[in-house]
Amino acid sequence: MLIDLRSDTVTMPTPEMRRAIFEAEVGDDGYGEDPSVHELEELGAAFLGMPDAIFVPSGTMANQIALRTFARPGEVVIVGAGAHLLQYERGASAKNALVQFHAVDDSSGYPNPEEVAKVIGHYRFRGHPVALVAVENTHMSSGGMAIPRDQFERLLEAAQGVPVYIDGARIANAQVTLGVPAADIGRGAQMVSMCLSKGLGAPMGSVLAGSRELVGLARQERALLGGRLRQIGFMAAAGVYALRNNVERLADDHVRALRLATILRERLGEEAVVSPVHSNMVLLRHDRAPEAVAHLAGEGVLANALSERLVRFVTHIGISDEDIEVAADRVLLLIAGTS
Ligand SMILES: Cc1ncc(COP(=O)(O)O)c(C=O)c1O
Repeated sequence: MLIDLRSDTVTMPTPEMRRAIFEAEVGDDGYGEDPSVHELEELGAAFLGMPDAIFVPSGTMANQIALRTFARPGEVVIVGAGAHLLQYERGASAKNALVQFHAVDDSSGYPNPEEVAKVIGHYRFRGHPVALVAVENTHMSSGGMAIPRDQFERLLEAAQGVPVYIDGARIANAQVTLGVPAADIGRGAQMVSMCLSKGLGAPMGSVLAGSRELVGLARQERALLGGRLRQIGFMAAAGVYALRNNVERLADDHVRALRLATILRERLGEEAVVSPVHSNMVLLRHDRAPEAVAHLAGEGVLANALSERLVRFVTHIGISDEDIEVAADRVLLLIAGTS
């Protein structure tokens, strides 16, 4: 049996979620007539602490819509250098939103507030103001860090009134890590998105939340990107099920990630794993990460090479305690064989 730790996107709908999909009431969402979509949008808005929300097909589309909602072509958007928006969307922002990114250091898990303030001041001086500051929470490239509220407040202050957007693909994980409702985590941001298709275990979709006016603009942008769907309530029902049933259980994924990290640290030394483990990700340092990933795949453990020197493991609803013990053994065998 394969132990698939590549990502929390590999989750399969559970029998209960499949039943919710099968039984969903649907309508034509292009006409705003799908009751399951309405239910998800209301639930998502409440979860994210916003007046309104829109269901969109993917996290990437949520990000692109947010950029297009806030920034006109040529305007500047500040992002963290390791952000999904910049690193993992294949230039989508340049093609779909035509924005100019300015990347700032986010190696501590969030955009450096002093740098954000400086960059905003610089562009103001040039008469080319910054349209948006984008923040990712949890922050994937630092290993799933949940941004503490006090640091987020420093960022809001640094933004000096420039709108802030949270790519909250895994904000439900941040809620579990911080013990603070997602609605409070994002307070002060103008828009927040969250993915239903990652740790929450739905087959597809994201929710993008904000004021009624911003969500109205986002609806237009979604249509322009081809994201206006029809009897999509089947998938919205999966999202409703996920929000009602799969948030608290993310704590199990976090415990399992910590267990994996603890075994690897005990046997390989503190430095072997990028620390700390905040949520459902473990980053293992390895001199030849792609080779290590290929070897582990041959041993039935799937992981991802995040870079030449980092192997990423992600826990999710399909991973058991036993899987973690087996995966840790296979990683230790690999390292023993290559040292
Ligand atoms: C932080 C973050 N934002 C956005 C996305 C994009 O989501 P999707 O794969 O649904 O387009 C991902 C996907 O992994 C992500 O990790």
